[in-house]
Amino acid sequence: MAQSTPVNNRLYDALGTRWYEAQDDPVALLRAESRLKTPWVLQRIARHLGRGPARVLDVGCGGGFGSNALAEAGHQVTGIDLSAESLRVARHHDRTGSVDYREADAYALPFEPGCFDVVTCMDFLEHVEAPALVVAEAARVLAPGGLFFFHTFNRNLLAGLVIIKGVEWFVANTPDHLHVLRLFITPDELGGHCEAAGLQPREWVGLRPHWRSRAFLRTLLTRRVAPDFRFVFTPSLRLSYLGFAVKPPTLEG
Ligand SMILES: C[S@@+](CC[C@H](N)C(=O)[O-])C[C@H]1O[C@@H](n2cnc3c(N)ncnc32)[C@H](O)[C@@H]1O
Repeated sequence: MAQSTPVNNRLYDALGTRWYEAQDDPVALLRAESRLKTPWVLQRIARHLGRGPARVLDVGCGGGFGSNALAEAGHQVTGIDLSAESLRVARHHDRTGSVDYREADAYALPFEPGCFDVVTCMDFLEHVEAPALVVAEAARVLAPGGLFFFHTFNRNLLAGLVIIKGVEWFVANTPDHLHVLRLFITPDELGGHCEAAGLQPREWVGLRPHWRSRAFLRTLLTRRVAPDFRFVFTPSLRLSYLGFAVKPPTLEG
């Protein structure tokens, strides 16, 4: 597909300290999203797998927002990413010193089948050309009864306008092709990828910015993401959505 614009995955090598510090950068939106997503994920892990530590694989972990928070909650976390520089930042911010950060490709996970209780792909599936293959790899390394969590962007005109154009217009230092609309994924497509990989989709919830807040307005006016910028849950999956699927337990399990 020579005519297709590739998503810019090189930018993660250059973020450095900006992963955790920059407000004049869309990475601040990723941090704000993580503050809403991680407790939701932790609740589902506790509800479905119990309170003990789970073996978690965070695929495309970037600067480690999810990996480090899950490790701080007591889980045994492995984070993989193609960006060595992002992994260095993630390690630096791992207050538990316990996360196993590794350079690896989501298409070929260097793990045995069934060795994780949880696999997460947060803000990740829209960064690869073949998300179905990534979901299949996630399913392969999940143990029976394991949970696959995802957060990604829906593909429609509104999502293109808000998530691509809105961020370009209203957040300083937004790089070209941070996201490309053709790689956004509809919930139906993602549900299909899960089912094709033997995973049963369970729960979906939409996310959107808290439009009616001072932080939202301040962000629009200054092109810096306000430190108290918040995302909220919504029943609508039109912009972005978070969810999980389950790998069915074996009969003996
Ligand atoms: C938007 S960031 C998401 C980071 C993190 N999951 C979060 O929610 O904060 C996308 C990450 O995917 C990584 N990535 C892109 N393609 C990858 C691949 N094939 N295998 C592993 N990581 C990849 C990039 O290096 C980048 O760190």
